[in-house]
Amino acid sequence: MPEEDFAPQKNYFEDVPVADRGSHIRGASSYDWGMKNRLGRIFREATGRTVMLAVDHGYFQGPTTGLERLDLAVPPLLPFADALMATRGAIRTSVPASLTCPIVVRASGGPSVLRELSDERLAMSVDDAVRLNASALAVQLFIGSEHETQSIKNLTTLVDAGMAAGIPVVAVIAVGREMVRDARYFRLATRMAAELGAQVVKCYYTDEGFASVASTCPVPLVVAGGKKLPEREALEMTYRSMDAGALGVDMGRNIFQSDSPIGMIQAVSGIVHGGLSVDDAFTLYEDTRTSLK
Ligand code: R5P
Repeated sequence: MPEEDFAPQKNYFEDVPVADRGSHIRGASSYDWGMKNRLGRIFREATGRTVMLAVDHGYFQGPTTGLERLDLAVPPLLPFADALMATRGAIRTSVPASLTCPIVVRASGGPSVLRELSDERLAMSVDDAVRLNASALAVQLFIGSEHETQSIKNLTTLVDAGMAAGIPVVAVIAVGREMVRDARYFRLATRMAAELGAQVVKCYYTDEGFASVASTCPVPLVVAGGKKLPEREALEMTYRSMDAGALGVDMGRNIFQSDSPIGMIQAVSGIVHGGLSVDDAFTLYEDTRTSLK
């Protein structure tokens, strides 16, 4: 028998409607609680956006410039990242388990940079993602490439497994060397990824028409940084991406190959979350670089 409850008067808040707990994340209102919770670790509630630090390049190209020593390069940046995107090998060997920043784990792989990159397979199980306490899994999608259908199969298989475990999937739109990176291509690829079940989609920014890519993708679209640019140009790209409707970045080389990775990640975050102008973000980058010399 439960204890008798002697409270003289209870308040049942009969006049207060039950809040619709929807979601601050685009397209996520009908997801299960665990899925929303994991996405909510990655995308800040205040802005609905994220600054994901991408350091997974080694899975196909080895010790990438700036990431020669993951254990030295990555930990100092983690306090400024909303999420860390990395391979399970990098996480287990080079990231302290005391990490509080959510992790997005690279789950596809296969060919090295020496071979046809689209020939990927799934490269880890969801069981292992659970052991790692992953907040999301990432898989590459090669629309228009030689192994397009296999990469779609990788995505849908991972989405099925992720749905069973409540783990969202980030579809990474990869662009073959021979392909045009224009808005028409990214509208096709990002929309396919979302309709096939990805809960987050990542693609490159396009100078023309990026707002149409963002508006037609029903889940959060985050932009990759791409090859290293001068810092101001990388910040301009970040600003224009957010202005056009991207909901964050998943940025690697333009942060870890900068002469001040800590300055750059703070400047990028200032634009994504703080509404900084490019000038103010660049000043933040320069001030941080100078102060850390
Ligand atoms: C590339 O294969 C990975 O998915 C990277 O995480 C992605 O390209 C983002 O890194 P970056 O900003 O260097 O392009």
